[in-house]
Amino acid sequence: MKKVRVCNINDIRDGEARGFEIDDTPILIVKQNGKVYAFEDICSHQHMPISENYDLEEGKLICMWHGAEFELETGKNLSLPAPAPIKKFDVEIDENGNIMIIIE
Ligand code: FES
Repeated sequence: MKKVRVCNINDIRDGEARGFEIDDTPILIVKQNGKVYAFEDICSHQHMPISENYDLEEGKLICMWHGAEFELETGKNLSLPAPAPIKKFDVEIDENGNIMIIIE
């Protein structure tokens, strides 16, 4: 298990999602209602980077390439055309506001 810094909590606004490249893995950080979520930045539909074309609704991340919806708490796919969940990472925020994700 490895803990990796992605960015600082102040690097991302509430209601925003941003893509990062960490150890050759595209990572998507989402902040909504003060809570931070981390996912692999690859849609389970056509493997497009969600960070480049997304929308956020209450509790939901929407991949706007073709409209698939995912649950923020779990990464679970909520609608077609996504055939599967997106990979979610556990998040820790340290005392300096660094957003760390746990990579297995
Ligand atoms: S690539 Fe995300 S919905 Fe198609």
